[in-house]
Amino acid sequence: MALDLRTEKVPGNPVEVISGPGALAQIFTYTDKLGCHRVLVVCGKNVSRLPQVASLGEVAPATTTVEVFDQVEPEPSDRTVAAGGEYAHSRGADIIVAIGGGSSMDAGKAIAAEAGQEGWIFSQECAGQPTTVPDTVLPFIAVPTTAGTGSEVTPFSVITFTETHHKLVLNHESFYPKYALLDPTLLTSTPRGAQVAAGMDALTHAVESYISKEATGPSRKRVHEAIKLIARHFRAAVRNTGDLEAQAGMQRAAMMAGLAFSVSRLGIVHAMALPLSALFDVPHGVANAILLPFGMEFNRPAAMPEFANIGAAMGVLDDEQSIESASRQAVAAVRELAQDVGAPRRMSHVGVDKSAIGRMAADAIESPHISRNPRTVCMRDIIGIYEQAY
Ligand SMILES: [Fe+2]
Repeated sequence: MALDLRTEKVPGNPVEVISGPGALAQIFTYTDKLGCHRVLVVCGKNVSRLPQVASLGEVAPATTTVEVFDQVEPEPSDRTVAAGGEYAHSRGADIIVAIGGGSSMDAGKAIAAEAGQEGWIFSQECAGQPTTVPDTVLPFIAVPTTAGTGSEVTPFSVITFTETHHKLVLNHESFYPKYALLDPTLLTSTPRGAQVAAGMDALTHAVESYISKEATGPSRKRVHEAIKLIARHFRAAVRNTGDLEAQAGMQRAAMMAGLAFSVSRLGIVHAMALPLSALFDVPHGVANAILLPFGMEFNRPAAMPEFANIGAAMGVLDDEQSIESASRQAVAAVRELAQDVGAPRRMSHVGVDKSAIGRMAADAIESPHISRNPRTVCMRDIIGIYEQAY
């Protein structure tokens, strides 16, 4: 894979993607193109200390100021969005640059809206209602430090509402970043556990997107590429976080899966993963890693040819197999990959209380992802999968 800087835009998606080592160093070229000179970086504490991030204020052109809001926590809350919006407003920020994992991307998108209207985020806390945004939403640039969420090319922002413990997916075209800068050197200092969770999230996006009822020819083509890249690079990226080719491969896979699921949406695994994070602070990617093999096994009867294709993309099939056996092998390959990278395997290992299964199932069944799942889902199915995965 070439590791020089490249710029691309995928048909049907508005985000211009700049990828390659050193992409972050180009940031002020793009803030300048947008006519913005008062940058607010949105990130977590650890990312704010990375040399490439800490030095942004020093390397910025004289006409540009850089402020940092470093209060983003894992699974960002409505209160963090409110605090970030207030900070952006008080500093006169005219652009948000989110640097970090999915949490920072999600928070950055919502902060870009909150900066335009104080208290906006609290008006969005109603499951099932369409997302509305203020008249003014600041432009937003995404700089991911994990390869997983795909948030850099999607219009989604996942926010946890503190009072109700609901984790809701906000979805508005204003949340598309103007630019995404994919710099693999930023991934080399991301902790291994976060890389595993992120990669499993990307794999879950890819699988659920491929079998979604709303998958299209182009979305499946992108996911096919994403799965091939994950099968080729995930183990190496986790084994040696300094492997730039592997990191770039995973970054590309996460982006391709993000492009696909922004069209196809997801399925039962994401619907069931969100309550684990909202109620027990299980990182999103870890929740997906645990639930993915069980969700695949549940869906397998309804999507055997698709699963066979997923197995082919992972390179684990031979020509003589029946579709049925190939679909089983795809599930086994995902299980094996998750095991090889050291992903957690049971809900009981990550602090989930078994007595909450009923409540989590009631939340999961309300998720819009359920309607895209290839197999019809009822409460009893969801409870059964949670119990298997416990
Ligand atoms: Fe996800």
